[in-house]
Amino acid sequence: MISKKIQQALNEQVNAEFYSAYLYLSMVAYFESVNLPGFATWMRAQTQEELTHAMKIYDFVSGRGGRVMLKSIAEPPTEWKSPLAAFEAAYKHEQSVTGRIDDLVNLAIEEKDHATNSFLQWFVNEQVEEESSVSGVVEKLKMVEKAPGGQFLIDRELGQRVFTPPTTEGE
Ligand SMILES: [Fe+2]
Ligand SMILES: [Fe+2]
Repeated sequence: MISKKIQQALNEQVNAEFYSAYLYLSMVAYFESVNLPGFATWMRAQTQEELTHAMKIYDFVSGRGGRVMLKSIAEPPTEWKSPLAAFEAAYKHEQSVTGRIDDLVNLAIEEKDHATNSFLQWFVNEQVEEESSVSGVVEKLKMVEKAPGGQFLIDRELGQRVFTPPTTEGE
């Protein structure tokens, strides 16, 4: 069983993960509108990842005898001034999500909820990866800022990303 406090905090995180998916899907639409299909493919995979994050928390709450309660999802921005600006916004967003996960871990520790703390460690590690993959693209885009055609090479590279659904092993 999870406490009401933990239940509420995890429900908020379900919402935050759906917002992440919404934000990245909005970026997919933006990249498609400016003819950058590779960037769009990359962000589409990112969107799918965020949906699996939301469902992972959903299943945990439900599996621990809690009650999932869905809230409305905020409207994401729809335009960015460049692919670099979009990726910088994604990076900033991931940093804020990391902060939220850290707050959740702190709450689980305060509440002496070891199961939730242990569950959240997966997200702690995931955020390290998320930040590094997004900031990697930011760095690449900065390098080609003044190089015509550089963006298209990155577009081709990002287009290779394939979403792999997480395995249920160990769950
Ligand atoms: Fe996430
Ligand atoms: Fe993320």
